[in-house]
Amino acid sequence: VVSPVPTVKPLQFGEPASAASPSIETLNLLMHRRSTPAGQLGPDGPSEAELSILLQIASRVPDHGKLAPWRFLIFSGESRSQAGALLKSALLRIEPEADDERAAFEAGRFERAPVVIAVISSPVLEHKIPEWEQVLSAGAVCQSLLIAAHAMGFAGQWLTEWYAYDRALLDALGLDAHEKVAGFIYLGSAPEESFERARPDMGRIISWYGKN
Ligand SMILES: Cc1cc2nc3c(=O)[nH]c(=O)nc-3n(C[C@H](O)[C@H](O)[C@H](O)COP(=O)(O)O)c2cc1C
Repeated sequence: VVSPVPTVKPLQFGEPASAASPSIETLNLLMHRRSTPAGQLGPDGPSEAELSILLQIASRVPDHGKLAPWRFLIFSGESRSQAGALLKSALLRIEPEADDERAAFEAGRFERAPVVIAVISSPVLEHKIPEWEQVLSAGAVCQSLLIAAHAMGFAGQWLTEWYAYDRALLDALGLDAHEKVAGFIYLGSAPEESFERARPDMGRIISWYGKN
């Protein structure tokens, strides 16, 4: 893991920024990166200083209206098992007959990785910027976070799983009624190997308007 903490500096408002910056490294990273299933993540995650950089990078996404319609909720250390206890009670509420093995699995979900970041979509309602665009910006936060973590030498996975959609659980985690989880980003150390998955047929998803 490269520790970029001393060298990656945020810009101050109005400071010269970068409109284009050719980087084969960045292109290769984007062309080759893979997510790592949460259960395969290793025990070393970003430090607080590294997390601070990752979250600053993640919050630099395009954001129509500069509303910052997202926020982060971080689970690390003990708080992972505290949140896991909420998951277990949510499970037992939905499926009272669930066996101990299943309950223990739910209780341990957040402990699959050293750090889990919930990216919470928190749109400003009844604003002239459509809610859809605010939600898209939250998705961009998730992807930037994954890419930045990868560039810092960590592996990760963007998950929602069932608990992103359990309203009572989200309430218990402190989300407001209008907020949703865009993703739980699980981060940890990389597995030894990772392989390419099937990718979309580009011919099927690209068309040129006005050209047959
Ligand atoms: C919004 C969102 C939610 C996801 N939720 C899940 C999930 O609940 N379970 C799962 O196995 N994969 C889920 N995935 C897919 C994983 O992130 C998966 O690792 C990824 O598609 C692998 O692709 P990659 O290696 O190209 O990044 C989700 C992806 C997105 C964008």
